[in-house]
Amino acid sequence: MSTDVGSAGHSRTAAPVSRPVRVSGQHGVLQVFTAAVWRTMCSEDWKGHHANVACGQLGFPSYVSSDTLRVDLLEEQFQGDFVSINHLLSDDKVTALHHAVYMREECASGRVVTLKCTACGLRTGYSARIVGGNMSSLAQWPWQASLQFQGYHLCGGSIITPLWIVTAAHCVYDLYLPKSWTIQVGLVSLLDSPAPSYLVEKIIYHSKYKPKRLGNDIALMKLAVPLTFNEMTQPICLPNSEENFPDGKMCWTSGWGSTEEGGDASPVLNHAAVPLISNKICNHRDVYGGIISPSMVCAGYLKGGVDSCQGDSGGPLVCQERRLWKLVGATSFGIGCADVNKPGVYTRITSFLDWIHEQLERDLKT
Ligand code: ARG
Repeated sequence: MSTDVGSAGHSRTAAPVSRPVRVSGQHGVLQVFTAAVWRTMCSEDWKGHHANVACGQLGFPSYVSSDTLRVDLLEEQFQGDFVSINHLLSDDKVTALHHAVYMREECASGRVVTLKCTACGLRTGYSARIVGGNMSSLAQWPWQASLQFQGYHLCGGSIITPLWIVTAAHCVYDLYLPKSWTIQVGLVSLLDSPAPSYLVEKIIYHSKYKPKRLGNDIALMKLAVPLTFNEMTQPICLPNSEENFPDGKMCWTSGWGSTEEGGDASPVLNHAAVPLISNKICNHRDVYGGIISPSMVCAGYLKGGVDSCQGDSGGPLVCQERRLWKLVGATSFGIGCADVNKPGVYTRITSFLDWIHEQLERDLKT
């Protein structure tokens, strides 16, 4: 196979990938990496067992739903190369999808497989009413977690499964002591909250985290006992691979961080609407002048005034896509807070999907 780069829009990749299964694009179609190319899974011969195998390869214990979608409704980049399940293999032989597929030029069924490994991104307990100022109401950001070191709120985090919280590496790098951390979820006020505290079983920060430049500023915390989901406590969806969130899209960040530069953490959970800013603009010499890497995403206003701040780190930057809320960023840094030409910088979650799935899968196997 040649390294045929550039054939318009096809995700041709010559380099081997660490994770040969992914869920892609706005519809969440299943793709398998075989013979040097990402190929979309045809629906023929697809069964629930295969969906469980696929989700297992992504670090989830089982699948939640699997549907089919007409090929012509797919984004063009996923319409070029296909695979289908080798129907000669019995279920017990199928333990890894990339070893159980045939290459296909077209899907005989005309349909491909969509996959969901976790129920997420809905806030069932929240009905939009006028919120006083920027204070959040209970169940408005049900994936928001407060990460507390020796009982003090230090950082935010986002619930992605009953056991896992996404946060920033800089929150935990110097405080790599799982026993000293507790996590609270399903609360607005840090002061008079009856919300229980959860113990942390382990902390994983990105092995290529760069403290100086805040590259790869992402970490995971695993809880000692799983969360019980209800209206106040819900996981946020991870984005799909190759999913794009356009510049200017209005997204939301939330946290107990200070409400003014240099201030104390806020006792109540606040939120702010912040539009996404392109890396090109964010790297402009008047803005961050080249320190923004492709695995970061900026959000906020160049005119200042609205931003995340100290104490919000690790917390969510979420965008809504057809009803579902997705985790687009984890609060990472800024110069000052809400200053002119210094919008908030967030770790871009789509850059770390493989890393997240790798950690979850490794943990599932042990
Ligand atoms: N690093 C900060 C923290 O530890 C988050 C800063 C976000 N700053 C900003 N201007 N958006 O909480």
